[in-house]
Amino acid sequence: MQAKTPGESRTTMTDLVLPSETNPLNNLFGGELLARMDRAASIAARRHSRRIVVTASVNHVAFNRAVPLGSVVTVEAAVSRAFKSSMEVFIDVWIEDRESGSRTKANEAIYTFVAVDETGRPIAVPPVKPETDLEKSRFAAALRRKQLSLVLAGKMKPNEATELKALFE
Ligand SMILES: CC(C)(COP(=O)(O)OP(=O)(O)OC[C@H]1O[C@@H](n2cnc3c(N)ncnc32)[C@H](O)[C@@H]1OP(=O)(O)O)[C@@H](O)C(=O)NCCC(=O)NCCS
Repeated sequence: MQAKTPGESRTTMTDLVLPSETNPLNNLFGGELLARMDRAASIAARRHSRRIVVTASVNHVAFNRAVPLGSVVTVEAAVSRAFKSSMEVFIDVWIEDRESGSRTKANEAIYTFVAVDETGRPIAVPPVKPETDLEKSRFAAALRRKQLSLVLAGKMKPNEATELKALFE
């Protein structure tokens, strides 16, 4: 299968924060942001694999900055690395300043999607060919994140997570 760049799966979704989507502090509700990230990431995984994709795990979410009511929020997702049937998707969340139009990074997350056939069985996907320095560093670290996710899910024994162990040696 021919490799694809993260740029080929990149998915950008821009939307407002409405009152029904906020918490009592008038900031975007965490679950709403998770849903927006899941939607953008699933489109990115679908663009990469051209298959049905399901969310296998949410590996990392950092709610670094609150997102106030009325904000214009951009969620940008791209496949950072593909393994056999699974794909790591990196999601960056930006808020746009109303006056200057400049963007500030608010949050980020890493999701894992698996491509499946019509019966729900995992199916192979194309590899990723990173181009930029950022894409290369995300690609390089993806294997240890996969191993960490599998260990936490009880699907891999810690002593088999060689890439992860190397971090602590
Ligand atoms: C995701 C799913 C297809 C994996 O099925 P499975 O029987 O565990 O299949 P496998 O063990 O062959 O794993 C398939 C791939 O997923 C990866 N994977 C499975 N669980 C994972 C996890 N927690 N973290 C990271 N990767 C995971 C495996 O490493 C494997 O990757 P690879 O093929 O690239 O090497 C299956 O668990 C599923 O359908 N889950 C429900 C998905 C869903 O409904 N999501 C929406 C939530 S509401």
